[in-house]
Amino acid sequence: MKILAFESSCDESAVALLDCERRVAVEKIYSQVAIHQVFGGVVPELAAREHLAAFPRLLRLLAAEEDLSQVNRMAVTIGPGLAGCLAMGLAAAESVNLLYPVPLQGVNHLRAHALSPFFAPWQRGFSPLEYLPHLGLLVSGGNTLLFLLEENFSFQILAETVDDAAGEAFDKGAKLLQLPYPGGALIEKLARQGEKTAFRFPRAFQGGEMKFSFSGLKTSLRYLLEKMSPEEISQQRSHICASYQDAICDVLVEKLFLALSCHKVRSVGLSGGVSQNCYLRQAVESQLKSRLPLLLAPRELCGDNATMVAFAALFDNRLLDFPQEFFPRWPIDQSPLASF
Ligand code: KG4
Repeated sequence: MKILAFESSCDESAVALLDCERRVAVEKIYSQVAIHQVFGGVVPELAAREHLAAFPRLLRLLAAEEDLSQVNRMAVTIGPGLAGCLAMGLAAAESVNLLYPVPLQGVNHLRAHALSPFFAPWQRGFSPLEYLPHLGLLVSGGNTLLFLLEENFSFQILAETVDDAAGEAFDKGAKLLQLPYPGGALIEKLARQGEKTAFRFPRAFQGGEMKFSFSGLKTSLRYLLEKMSPEEISQQRSHICASYQDAICDVLVEKLFLALSCHKVRSVGLSGGVSQNCYLRQAVESQLKSRLPLLLAPRELCGDNATMVAFAALFDNRLLDFPQEFFPRWPIDQSPLASF
């Protein structure tokens, strides 16, 4: 089984070939970050046009290394994401599918992120079944979701953000601090030299409510910076970053462990771009104290990528050495365009 997958939900164009027997993936990815950096965020129209130019190039690169005629299944992200960007990935996948008419499956972008922590155990030969039910925290530039993945593979959302996503909070905070987009990794780097108790930022919905909110945090940073001189800001920058990062991670960890106290699970997972944050990883790890396996999405699968799309297709079709009763619940050869 070889799955060719496409991802284009935002500003990464990616194609990957997942070899399910050897449990390895070859990925070709093009990030548009440098193009959008000057605008301080992703420009949807520009992103769609970049995907159009990127897919033929990426496919040529992949075809130079892999025999695409061996592909026996295809997968493509069908949402959520920017409509114009998704359309480009779908068009690319449908075009290649004319050449290689194998079943083409639409994949939900959030499911793909949410399932990515199972990729490394699967590569090592473990069945994801061993880790279910699973409590997952998906933290990316566009989403913040706490969910349960049940033993019957259904997802139950336990908490989500009512406004900004965690990654958006990092990026908007970075913008206020005049750091380049996307600012999450840079805030983390600066925070390493800072003191997290130097400034007190608000935490929304503390005290048991299963919701996230980060827009007040960003506003609070704006008010703080308005009261400071440019010299003070540059002197205090690492302390501000440490306190701001702590405020974001604090609520993520609090809700994760609140959910853990209410649900019996066999593993905990972190996925999405923000899950690369070491401060967050360590906070979860130290509070979990090896009580349960902590499944971390591999770093190369934290941001948007096509390997996770191929893996989600494999997972959703129960082709991972699962018992017979888990085999496809829905026809896989329906064109994803039909549901777009
Ligand atoms: O998963 P992703 O590509 O986003 C979406 O598809 O929505 O992740 C990008 C997000 C950005 O907001 C970026 O600032 C954040 O992940 N990010 C980080 C770190 N690395 C990336 N946030 C905090 N700490 C990091 N080390």
